[in-house]
Amino acid sequence: MMRLHLNENTAGCSPAVIDALRQLGRADAGVYPDYDAARQAVADLFGVPADYVLLTNGLDEGILAACGAAFRDRSSGVPETLGVAPAFDMYEGCTTALGGRMVTVPLDRDFAYQTDRLRAAITPATRIVFLANPHNPSGVRVPLETLKQTVRAIAPIPLFVDEAYADFSGDTLIDRAAFDAWPSLLVGRTFSKAYGIAGLRVGAVLGSPATLEPLRRIVPPYSLNGWATVALPIAIADRSYRDWYVGQAETSRALLTTACTRLGLKTWPSAANFLLVRVGPGLPRIVGMLAEKGIRVRDRSTEPGCEYCIRITAGLVEDTQRVIPALEEAVCDARK
Ligand SMILES: Cc1ncc(COP(=O)(O)O)c(C=O)c1O
Repeated sequence: MMRLHLNENTAGCSPAVIDALRQLGRADAGVYPDYDAARQAVADLFGVPADYVLLTNGLDEGILAACGAAFRDRSSGVPETLGVAPAFDMYEGCTTALGGRMVTVPLDRDFAYQTDRLRAAITPATRIVFLANPHNPSGVRVPLETLKQTVRAIAPIPLFVDEAYADFSGDTLIDRAAFDAWPSLLVGRTFSKAYGIAGLRVGAVLGSPATLEPLRRIVPPYSLNGWATVALPIAIADRSYRDWYVGQAETSRALLTTACTRLGLKTWPSAANFLLVRVGPGLPRIVGMLAEKGIRVRDRSTEPGCEYCIRITAGLVEDTQRVIPALEEAVCDARK
């Protein structure tokens, strides 16, 4: 199957990562992992001191830890998280798993959100706000100024900005001065996407040391395994591989957008490694026909604002060139 449903790196990781993992042996499996080099590599990548970085078992664990830390205050009853709809489902999943309740505010038709609407939804039980930039599932970019306005507007409630796809957009809020000025700001990153190590599970949460402290108490000391801690600095060091893949995703996005426009399908301007496409009422047939050709895409049609929409990963250009004729055939067939 061509996996275009989870926004993975369709080329895999840098070959240098695999070479390094091949050097590992029995002794490496027998010891607890050493985090220092991995944490320093992330700190250097983002230009912050190492104590502004918390490594996590994928960004998923970072989201879970942020919820857990925020929910320690139960003084207003059931703790609430706040976010937008649609959004990445782990915000709600972690919230409910930890006994909380997620409140969401709708986005407008083009997936833009307004700080005021979010602010108005804050209650005494709101413990943390989750926003992704770029937004998932639309890929739409959130202006950094809007996010900064939100941090200021909702402080001291923590704002967790999920930058899972920021390697593709180039936008980030990570900045030591910003973390010092706004202790309520947390930024999440993943190495699953542009760096292609989703299978190794590496994410990071960045913020001021005091803000990260309660999260550190939740994430177990060896949450990253030894193979991941070895792979991470090597993946980061191979900048040309990462940049090459970001370029592939950008070209694929453009090719897919052009093809969809030609087919009369609505898309949104994505800054991530995927594209949301409104394929119309023929959606089940289109998804089925693509699957028959070995292409998996994600049906997002049940989410607010995503009626009749599928999400397609924009990865390797050669994959995209295979997907386009298959999509075209499926769309034309579904229109008959
Ligand atoms: C918005 C968003 N945040 C976080 C993640 C999770 O990333 P990780 O693989 O590091 O757990 C994903 C994965 O698809 C995502 O789309």
